[in-house]
Amino acid sequence: MAVVKLEALSKRYGGNAEASVRSMTLTIADGEFMVLLGPSGCGKSTALRMIAGLEPISSGTVAIDGRVVNAVPAKDRDIAMVFQSYALYPHMTVRQNLAFGLKRRRMPAAEIEKRVASAADRLGLGPYLDRKPHALSGGQRQRVALGRAIVRSPKVFLFDEPLSNLDAALRVTTRNELIKQQHDLGTTTIYVTHDQVEAMTMGDRICIMNRGEVVQIGRPLDVYRAPADTFVARFLGSPPMNLMSGVLRRNGADHAVEVAGAVLPVTGFEAGLLAPFADRPITVGIRPEDIYESGAQPGCSAPAAVSARVAAVEPLGAETLLVLSLAGQAEECVARVGRVSAHSHGDAATLYLDAATLHLFDPQTGRALPRAAG
Ligand SMILES: Nc1ncnc2c1ncn2[C@@H]1O[C@H](COP(=O)(O)OP(=O)(O)OP(=O)(O)O)[C@@H](O)[C@H]1O
Ligand SMILES: [Mg+2]
Repeated sequence: MAVVKLEALSKRYGGNAEASVRSMTLTIADGEFMVLLGPSGCGKSTALRMIAGLEPISSGTVAIDGRVVNAVPAKDRDIAMVFQSYALYPHMTVRQNLAFGLKRRRMPAAEIEKRVASAADRLGLGPYLDRKPHALSGGQRQRVALGRAIVRSPKVFLFDEPLSNLDAALRVTTRNELIKQQHDLGTTTIYVTHDQVEAMTMGDRICIMNRGEVVQIGRPLDVYRAPADTFVARFLGSPPMNLMSGVLRRNGADHAVEVAGAVLPVTGFEAGLLAPFADRPITVGIRPEDIYESGAQPGCSAPAAVSARVAAVEPLGAETLLVLSLAGQAEECVARVGRVSAHSHGDAATLYLDAATLHLFDPQTGRALPRAAG
């Protein structure tokens, strides 16, 4: 069991003008499943490799259970890492692959056998112990890679996109397997992905990174509901949050926002935060599921009608996506509506934005205006 604490952790690779990880501060609680999420090149693997001891740290610290491990070699950190490429030894059987790391640590043979049997049992690898990796499916190979981490019973698991080589169906089953194992073992875990479904479903908390920096840390639904800025708003959620340009108006003691030819009441924000934006442009965000085809639909608490042209209808079976052109908006909007839609391509339509779900962002900085608590 272990607490992992990163403090102002930074990495600049020799020759690069910019740091790849910049002043990353993050504490992963004992037994927590923390997901690092962000676009390609944002520094996820670099951060993980510094924690593992595979990459020298430029500045800042990595501490495990209160002990700074910057100078501790990888093999002495008691961390097991699983990569996207399973990196199994091709000439060894599954049993030998599982045992290899333990043998190298000179563990007694009886203990090795016990641990290998227990991990194989746990992961359903019993029938394959005498096979070599080439005779296994991708999912089975990834389970062996996971098994190699489990047999060590390390303090910390690090995963770097372990599922991204698997096909869609296998990804789902392996994902569930991995969540279950982590739950059962209770090992502190840091899991890197750029797949937001993995992030939403696996993490106790997620840490969203962009360009080497931490942008937001929180529980998945909290981040989804209250993204800290437009980057997170667009990154988490598929299809992403719609961002529109509007103008904030003062309306007596209240505020309203003019957007796409409609006037929407702004509720749930502190007046003091809104005041500086009065009569100025503001970025208005709305999630696709907060746009409705009828104002009387359940869940839509403050319907505000907008006129739109339907640019495309995408029936996906369980839901339909409507791509909409709205007055005065450069970008098209996406609405996520029911299994069947009354609309067709090219229609002039009236849609309903649920004004109670609006997000507001400073158009200059992209930072969210937080909703008032409660
Ligand atoms: N060995 C290296 N030498 C120089 N620059 C590197 C090195 N490794 C990574 N970088 C740079 O550091 C930045 C972060 O890379 P990193 O691999 O950590 O990103 P990532 O978030 O894991 O991306 P991906 O999702 O594509 O795996 C990138 O700009 C990358 O080009
Ligand atoms: Mg990476």
